[in-house]
Amino acid sequence: MATVEVTGLQKRYQDFLALDGVSLKAKTGQLISLLGPSGCGKSTTLRCLAGFLEPNGGDILVDGESIVSTPANRRGFGVVFQDYALFPHMTVAENVGYGLRLKRLPKGEIATRVYDVMKLVRLDGLDRRLPKEISGGQQQRVALARALVLQPRLLLLDEPLANLDARLRDEVRWLIRDVQQQSGITAFYVTHDQSEAMAMSDMVAVMKAGRVAQFATPREIYQKPTERYVADFTGEANFLPVSQVTGTGEGSYRIVVAGTDLEVTGVPDIPIGWDAELLLRPESLSLVAPDAGTFRGRVTKSAFLGAALHCEITLDDGDVLRLAADPNEQVSAEGKVGVAIDRSHAWLMPKVAP
Ligand SMILES: Nc1ncnc2c1ncn2[C@@H]1O[C@H](COP(=O)(O)OP(=O)(O)O)[C@@H](O)[C@H]1O
Ligand SMILES: [Mg+2]
Repeated sequence: MATVEVTGLQKRYQDFLALDGVSLKAKTGQLISLLGPSGCGKSTTLRCLAGFLEPNGGDILVDGESIVSTPANRRGFGVVFQDYALFPHMTVAENVGYGLRLKRLPKGEIATRVYDVMKLVRLDGLDRRLPKEISGGQQQRVALARALVLQPRLLLLDEPLANLDARLRDEVRWLIRDVQQQSGITAFYVTHDQSEAMAMSDMVAVMKAGRVAQFATPREIYQKPTERYVADFTGEANFLPVSQVTGTGEGSYRIVVAGTDLEVTGVPDIPIGWDAELLLRPESLSLVAPDAGTFRGRVTKSAFLGAALHCEITLDDGDVLRLAADPNEQVSAEGKVGVAIDRSHAWLMPKVAP
């Protein structure tokens, strides 16, 4: 149980600044994802939290106290990595109880705590197996149990599912979230998978080149991204160029897009003259009759994908929109269509945050 506050964290590898002022906060019991492409500084941030790396600047406060000069083994955090490195010659139960034996706890207490945590991660009955005698998903749950049994103040997970196949990944993902919520433990979770971050987290930090581009709830980063980078990384997106942007109040704008006047909401305080564009997620668009809707265009591609008909619409002014239409929609190649937009999901944002 802990609150965490990371402020202005910097980490330099030789002359390369891998973290350039990372700031984020976790309330007690929250799961915070660090999301971003390879090389953006997720693992470096997590390693600074764990105490495996010493930051060159900034601070990390846990329950209000700086921990940057506390050695890793005194922080009382649990860490789970992608390669879980179980001891091959120890049974599952011995692996889970390892940290407690190091602490020289009484045998009876070790047995009880190992039993309880193995039940929590649904490994009961496998105590006497060796790591090589259980599946990859079960091995990863042993690694999780090994961290949890020490009742850490903070749980740190770095791409823990990366070595699992898709089906197992799903299963272990839900288990981690269940266990984290049941135990009320604050957790940081590194992933480059946007759906994983969205599904599991209370808050997501979208990282970009050693900085946090946006720190917000999954809903906010998806529906109200602060810039194109965030929108692109968090799901399918259409970006339409806009002109004649006029602010009409806190986060409200009048714009011209694809030759049409629109009133939309967006990122507050986009500077006048700054390059902005309109975000339209595919599910906020629907096909309507050619003379109805907000835009007019023609169908330039369509693909039946079972649950949806994916269409590419080239608008009269040349802009292109991709949308997911009803699978039973009848469209003909080059057929004229109208596109209606759900205005509550149209979002004006700067191409690059000012
Ligand atoms: N030990 C190191 N020495 C030099 N550069 C490193 C080292 N570790 C990581 N980096 C660089 O720092 C950047 C961030 O790395 P990392 O935090 O591992 O990214 P991520 O986990 O987001 O993929 C990358 O450009 C990486 O090449
Ligand atoms: Mg990494």
